[in-house]
Amino acid sequence: MAGFTLLTTKITDESKMKKIVILISGRGSNMEAILNANLPVAIAAVISNEPDAKGLATAQARNIPTAVVPHRAFTNREDFDGVLAMEINRYQPDFIVLAGFMRVLTEEFAERYSGRMINIHPSLLPSFPGLHTHQRALEAGVRVHGCTVHFVTPGVDIGPIIVQAVVPVPAGVDEDTLATRVLAEEHRIYPQAVRWLCEGRVQLVDGAVVYDRIAPACGGVISPALDE
Ligand code: GRF
Repeated sequence: MAGFTLLTTKITDESKMKKIVILISGRGSNMEAILNANLPVAIAAVISNEPDAKGLATAQARNIPTAVVPHRAFTNREDFDGVLAMEINRYQPDFIVLAGFMRVLTEEFAERYSGRMINIHPSLLPSFPGLHTHQRALEAGVRVHGCTVHFVTPGVDIGPIIVQAVVPVPAGVDEDTLATRVLAEEHRIYPQAVRWLCEGRVQLVDGAVVYDRIAPACGGVISPALDE
């Protein structure tokens, strides 16, 4: 039999990749961290409620489709969420990733994407939901602060926790320094959580987070460990 050499090439089958849509409202640094992580994930689109969101230009520069659903054009949350859902569904994503998306979503919207939508929040939830988390953490005198990735359920900054990263709060630290340190952790854990989600290693089952193939030492809390 004539000998031959079988050449194998690594094929990335994009059709098998999970598809995500990222929702932003502003700067988009968490979105960028996800893009920079080169995850085996298809970024179907970036959608903003703010036409001037800086993150839109970042996405466009990488040829990622973008869309704007301007919330000010709607008189109520239901109508806004309805159009937002239509826009999201055009891309048929597996998952929706909220990355600094500053709108309160209706219960119906949260339920529609139950188990398929995640958010990042700059505090160790359930402490300090809402805005101004770093200032409030300093005022409360906490010695540790951090960030949380969670599944979105009805309510604000609430939902089963996927992963948290902890940041120490040294005496005398100022708000900007603390914010910078927390943001660096956000950029570390959010791409990781998206990877877990898209690889089926984290799921929402009966309202609880179930992990698979995630090192027990890491499972859910990252600081300083990071499990690929
Ligand atoms: C981040 O701190 C995120 O946790 C919060 O809003 C901020 C968005 O920042 N939800 P960016 O737009 O990702 O830079």
